[in-house]
Amino acid sequence: MSFHSLRRLGVSALAAVRRFFRPALSPAERYREINGRCFSSFYEQERMLADRPRMEFYHTAIQRHIQPGDRVIDLGTGTGILAAFASRRGAAKVHAIDHSSILKTARTLAQANRIERVDFISAHSTEFSLPERVDVILHEQMGDCLFDEAMVANVCDLRDRLLKPGGLILPSRFEFYCEPVKIRDHLHVPFIWELEVHGYDYAVLERQRPQDPAYYQFSSTNPTLIEHYLTAPAPALTLDLQTVNEAELPHEVTFTRTVVHAGRLDGYAVYFRVLVDDDLRLSSGPLDSGRAPHWGFRVLRTDRDDFAAGDLITVRLKVGSWPDVSSWRWSHVKHPPAGPDPEPVNGVHRNGA
Ligand SMILES: C[S@@+](CC[C@H](N)C(=O)[O-])C[C@H]1O[C@@H](n2cnc3c(N)ncnc32)[C@H](O)[C@@H]1O
Repeated sequence: MSFHSLRRLGVSALAAVRRFFRPALSPAERYREINGRCFSSFYEQERMLADRPRMEFYHTAIQRHIQPGDRVIDLGTGTGILAAFASRRGAAKVHAIDHSSILKTARTLAQANRIERVDFISAHSTEFSLPERVDVILHEQMGDCLFDEAMVANVCDLRDRLLKPGGLILPSRFEFYCEPVKIRDHLHVPFIWELEVHGYDYAVLERQRPQDPAYYQFSSTNPTLIEHYLTAPAPALTLDLQTVNEAELPHEVTFTRTVVHAGRLDGYAVYFRVLVDDDLRLSSGPLDSGRAPHWGFRVLRTDRDDFAAGDLITVRLKVGSWPDVSSWRWSHVKHPPAGPDPEPVNGVHRNGA
């Protein structure tokens, strides 16, 4: 064995030993690592940049709400696009932070586009500080399920430490939706125990309902999956990052609505809307016209249940931790229009709820 082979063997053995003894990451640290790795890829960045409603929304919001001379933090700058918009708008200084290696690309792009007055900082936002507070915090930290990219914790942390009193968070107002939906018949995949395939019955498998929370939800970017909402959409939760604190978010959301569009309940579509001005909104809602296409929406699956127009549905979403969608549990109760007493439904989702 050559000296070089021996050295290589030694180095890889050492790396294996280090991996073995490395302290286990906490869920927050593991999430950071995954997030940083995910956004280092050109593919993730180009999906977001090619999303026209998204880019139009941010460009207009920055033109309208960032004033020449403002000092700005761009939390999670990615390729530096929002920082560039703010600089071109006349911001006196933009502190563009990102914890992912994509920051190198942001520097290259800013130079190639002659963008000035932007400081690029390779850091996680919670480890970033400044000697003076800023006028604006700019960010795009919305996950498919709104909360799942730690938006509330990260923005509120910067707000409390580094935003001037009366300063602006752009964007700050959000609506979170959890809408009962019917999926188009030809695209609907029932739970296995609901199936009968040419007389072959799978009902016996209901006893083996999986415990894995991931089984009870899926993501899609295909809005044609959804045939219709059963009720008139309304936010299950609204929040304003100017004032909210993560600890104040409720751990349970319940709403009761009248079914206006009869049909089979297949699950709840989770999506969000962002509000800046009356005429400036962004939506990931599958049935919203002009939806931002790169965001997926999540379907929280339910056991089959059929609703008639006029029925009432009460939906309950219990949340262990908003950023961790695997901690969410959901159930519903059907109230027929005539009876005052709720009738518990067979097949209420029992994912540990
Ligand atoms: C959804 S991308 C948005 C990128 C860019 N602002 C845009 O609009 O195209 C979110 C970016 O934030 C970064 N990020 C997420 N959490 C962060 C944190 N707490 N501190 C610093 N960067 C973060 C990610 O690495 C990613 O590049």
